Amino acid sequence: MGDEEPDGGVRAWLRSIEVFAGPLPAFAPERAPEDPAVLFLSWLSDAVAEGLRDPHAMTLSTVDEAGDPDARVLILKGVDGSGWQFAGHGFSPKGHQLAVHPRAALTFYWPEHGRQVRLRGHVTRGSAQENAQDFLARSATARAEALLGRQSQYLADPAERDRALGRALARIEGEPSLIEPAWTLYTLDPVEVEFWQAAQTRVHTRLRYERGPDGWERFPLWS
Ligand SMILES: Cc1cc2nc3c(=O)[nH]c(=O)nc-3n(C[C@H](O)[C@H](O)[C@H](O)COP(=O)(O)O)c2cc1C
Repeated sequence: MGDEEPDGGVRAWLRSIEVFAGPLPAFAPERAPEDPAVLFLSWLSDAVAEGLRDPHAMTLSTVDEAGDPDARVLILKGVDGSGWQFAGHGFSPKGHQLAVHPRAALTFYWPEHGRQVRLRGHVTRGSAQENAQDFLARSATARAEALLGRQSQYLADPAERDRALGRALARIEGEPSLIEPAWTLYTLDPVEVEFWQAAQTRVHTRLRYERGPDGWERFPLWS
């Protein structure tokens, strides 16, 4: 795979990989609804209806105290009038970053449809009740892992992790309503939502919703 390869190496190999294979849906921004949540849910429904894998997975981008960006994939937990929801441990790196800079970006990509959605906005934490509700809806192992509260720390010994997980699982079995107080349901309230539809011609279609004083405004963008 190095540059010494006769085919030109990684660069040529990457160029040979097809992107936006299609067939791709059309997107008519002039017929887009007033509320970006409506369009988002319709694109997500299309992805679900056609059996696309992990259609509700998205990249959450944050910045740390030094202003350095960070990003990771999360599952979308809900979309309602307050925004787009996701959940995680408040003491994880993303939890710390959101505590310092409660602003974030979310990016969805459905490759088979050539569709990307980008959101930017302010992030708020759920109430104790909302956080608990999300926590209790998780599997027992996922709850046990959260109880350990060690996400993204160095793992010196997998056996130590397994023992700690076993102890946490036993606690949950003994007390099924046990809640990890740092588990947090976050809501990103967007100020911008962009819909991006690929075309095989490479003349892609983009529409950005921006929140103005009187509600959402829509702006087609150059591709
Ligand atoms: C498809 C997928 C879904 C995930 N869903 C979540 C999630 O909902 N919440 C979460 O905290 N981590 C989730 N993760 C793990 C995160 O990507 C990440 O590894 C973890 O949250 C630690 O991130 P941090 O160190 O930036 O805090 C998911 C990973 C993948 C690949």
